[in-house]
Amino acid sequence: MWYDYTDLAFSPYNEYRRQMRRICVVELLSAKNVKSFGSIRQDEVSILIKSIKTLLMFLSGCRQMGSSSFPSLTTTSKLSSLCMQDMFSAGKETSSSAIDWAMAELMRNPRVMEKVQREVRECLKGKEKDIDVKGLKYLKLVVKETLRLHPPIPVMISVWAMGMDPETFQPERFENSCIDFLGSSFEYLPFGAGRRICPGVNFGLASVELSLAQILYHFDWSLPPGISFPDVDLTEQEGITVSRKNHLFLLPTLYINPSH
Ligand code: HEM
Repeated sequence: MWYDYTDLAFSPYNEYRRQMRRICVVELLSAKNVKSFGSIRQDEVSILIKSIKTLLMFLSGCRQMGSSSFPSLTTTSKLSSLCMQDMFSAGKETSSSAIDWAMAELMRNPRVMEKVQREVRECLKGKEKDIDVKGLKYLKLVVKETLRLHPPIPVMISVWAMGMDPETFQPERFENSCIDFLGSSFEYLPFGAGRRICPGVNFGLASVELSLAQILYHFDWSLPPGISFPDVDLTEQEGITVSRKNHLFLLPTLYINPSH
């Protein structure tokens, strides 16, 4: 499995593994490197937003021409796309699954959706091209809460065991809390802890936060006719990464910034 256990995630603890991990943490995924990839991240997310806009224009053109033969739904699942192999498998599925879960929870919780969208639109007004997610405090809480309820890689201890009403999606629980992603709060370990802690924490969070901010900024999202928000399906797919079992079908409506 995985090149005879020579990749980082599955290799035994030895000098080789130590070196691999060092390369990942210091050379590939350091905070400095993650920051330096910012413009690439921005370009990639812009391509995603542009493709949803193009699809919307195409579908509204089809509807105006009276054609009913084109699908009117898009899916956030479709929006998603020895060391390097780890980076791709450990990095891509976890991040896209986190975005998918976040959108599902936001659709189930209109109060939170309204609040996070208001923040994103107020903070990013006029800065859509050069986005800095630093000021998006509530969005960060939404991501944190998503990773609490739906950790893409559940570690060996129960990461669901956090305090009271664990089933409720309530980002405010992290407000003024010192619980972080660094593996020191044992009731909250979406990135693991100790010497196995995910080396892609910064990279993962940067991708999830930026993608989510853009998706929420540019579109209003609604559920297909006949589905109401408590019915959004949260069934999990079994696997190394816990993704949603069924596609999340959502209808986007283009948001036009009133000041433009
Ligand atoms: C939201 C995004 C992500 C989450 C929630 C996540 C979560 C995790 C968790 C819980 C582990 C530890 C599993 C264990 O205890 O053995 C892990 C390991 C790992 N992650 Fe991530 N991850 C994410 C994104 C990324 C990204 C973006 C990359 C790289 C680009 C990455 C690369 C890795 C690697 C290489 C390991 C294995 C580390 C080792 O065994 O020493 N992850 N991840």
